[in-house]
Amino acid sequence: MATEQNNLPDIISHCKEYGFIFPSSDIYDGLSAVYDYGQWGVELKKNIKDIWWKSMVYMHENIVGIDSAIFMHPTIWKASGHVDNFSDPMIDNLDSKKRYRVDHLIEGFCEQVADSNKQLADELLVKMDALLAADDFVGLKQLIVDNNMKCAVSGTCNWTDVRQFNLMFSTQLGSVAEDSDTIYLRPETAQGIFVNFLNVQKTGRMKIPFGIAQIGKAFRNEIVARGFIFRMREFEQMEMQFFVRPGTQKEWYEYWKEARMKWHLALGISASKYRFHDHVKLAHYADAACDIEFDFPMGFKEVEGIHSRTNFDLSQHQEYSKKKQMYFDNDIDEATGKPYGNYIPYVVETSIGLDRTILMVLSEAYTVEDLSTEDKKDSRVVLKFPPKLAPIKLAIFPLMKKDGLAELAREMMNEYREDFFCFYEEKDAIGKRYRRMDALGTPFCVTIDHQTKEDGTVTIRYRDSMDQERVKMSDVKAIVLNAIKS
Ligand code: GAP
Repeated sequence: MATEQNNLPDIISHCKEYGFIFPSSDIYDGLSAVYDYGQWGVELKKNIKDIWWKSMVYMHENIVGIDSAIFMHPTIWKASGHVDNFSDPMIDNLDSKKRYRVDHLIEGFCEQVADSNKQLADELLVKMDALLAADDFVGLKQLIVDNNMKCAVSGTCNWTDVRQFNLMFSTQLGSVAEDSDTIYLRPETAQGIFVNFLNVQKTGRMKIPFGIAQIGKAFRNEIVARGFIFRMREFEQMEMQFFVRPGTQKEWYEYWKEARMKWHLALGISASKYRFHDHVKLAHYADAACDIEFDFPMGFKEVEGIHSRTNFDLSQHQEYSKKKQMYFDNDIDEATGKPYGNYIPYVVETSIGLDRTILMVLSEAYTVEDLSTEDKKDSRVVLKFPPKLAPIKLAIFPLMKKDGLAELAREMMNEYREDFFCFYEEKDAIGKRYRRMDALGTPFCVTIDHQTKEDGTVTIRYRDSMDQERVKMSDVKAIVLNAIKS
């Protein structure tokens, strides 16, 4: 449950009003659970991708990146188990015809009753987890009916049985709609890495342990898509598959758990906003798995998964493709004094949702400050992004257009834009320009005035404290560069 009041609706409208995120196909009233990133959202997204890529690929000599195609051979999804297992238990309301994911229906009910009867809500969630773990669909329906959980649309408790629905989108390759042409939009980027394991290992002369990283789109036909960009039908993942010697996977799993939590904390978010959640029911491919959960406006929820996937995927691809997925390890095994020899590597993966990370960063940054004085009511909305994530790093304002101030500001802009993203604005009063930059999360604004022409100083204004000071124009670049490095 959320610890504070859920301000997600305010964040959603802020994102739309200030050009971060729009509903897809907005002029046609949107498309459910699909979103477009606007001019500032796309910068925020790029900054997060760059930070992740740098931490994975540039900071590890044994990790390289790839960019595999979204369309893949359909047998891949047979081999990976997605055709048979990538499904969620669903239930339909017979009156409204609305379909619900069973866990979402029960969780939604529990959220409602928690205010008046927290004990019941907690008990129901424990029961639900146990029934889901046991794939007990009859028991799940009974839990729904016994507790009179109603459809939000029809208001009735008239339910079908619980059934499994596959979450993959399918489409046709080529012009003839035959069964053999059916392909899927990938539901995870990971399989593009698995099927390129040997390509990369051989061409990159990679030695185990090594990793392959990828950022890209994934698609899931989520039946109940809720929580803005938390659960989307088209989203992006940042995944890394780390190939290890069999028997060492537990220690690498622990290594990546710690490394990934450190990455989150380095975003400047406090440790109290995170927790690990160990999976009780493991996916068909895993021998250990946990989520990193973040305290979103709607409560603690998964932002990243760390999974020890055994050699399941590579073994399956070996079987289905009839192509060996073996690695020859010529390191000496101390126990036998001989090389480890041929084996199918084990894999530890880290998988973080890019859009969920954006929501995390936005919810952490979104702040409403009361600036009222005795004489005047006032408030400001400010996005307190860490400078390295902020879409705009520096806004440059000439106090007025005339007297050569605009030219000076343009000169500064032209010099600085090589190093970071600057924004030039000459309209409106300075106070209004500052507030607009607060709403976009710009950490620094400088104003160029008549004094600048005399002594080469500018006013720098800091977003979070709103303090202003006079500094040498030539010092501004270092101030910004220092802030975005840390
Ligand atoms: N390759 C493993 C894998 O895909 P997952 O736990 O299903 O694991 C990994 O997904 C991450 O992808 C999640 O932690 C979440 O951040 C993100 N994700 C999954 N489904 C999503 C959805 N419908 N919308 C947005 N992000 C999603």
